[in-house]
Amino acid sequence: MQHVLFVCLGNICRSPMAEAIFNDLLEQRHLTSQFEVASVATSPEEEGNHPHPGALKAMQAHGLNASHHRSRPITATDFDWADTIITMDHANVANLQRMAPSAADAAKVKLCLDILPGRTGEAIDDPWYTHKFELTYQELAAALPAWLDELTK
Ligand code: 4NP
Repeated sequence: MQHVLFVCLGNICRSPMAEAIFNDLLEQRHLTSQFEVASVATSPEEEGNHPHPGALKAMQAHGLNASHHRSRPITATDFDWADTIITMDHANVANLQRMAPSAADAAKVKLCLDILPGRTGEAIDDPWYTHKFELTYQELAAALPAWLDELTK
């Protein structure tokens, strides 16, 4: 069983979208028994909150539902649980590397778009500020199949 943890700042926009898209990919590829997926925040700011309405709307437009999700901040247990930690921007990477209980945990932290040739080092910008939820969906939908390829090869 592989454990994949998606992380963003608030866990109400990008990371719950990533979790739902990745779970959908696992179903499509009949891999649900091989992976467990979760998403968390670097910040406690949105704890207990639903995904942002813009995120829910973008997901719904693509046949996905993330309405059951509630935001929560990352814990030491999450770092230990995760095999791979996929993050959205450089602040997420810096925060997680600072928060990681061990060097081994810090080494699990990856930037999502690094998997796509030509987009290495780029961030998935925060739609909480940009309101570009469809762009967020498209970037995640491009990168996550490549992550699943990488994690199953
Ligand atoms: P997310 O978006 O990190 O993609 O979930 C944000 C959600 C909330 C805040 C910032 C970003 N906030 O500042 O409360």
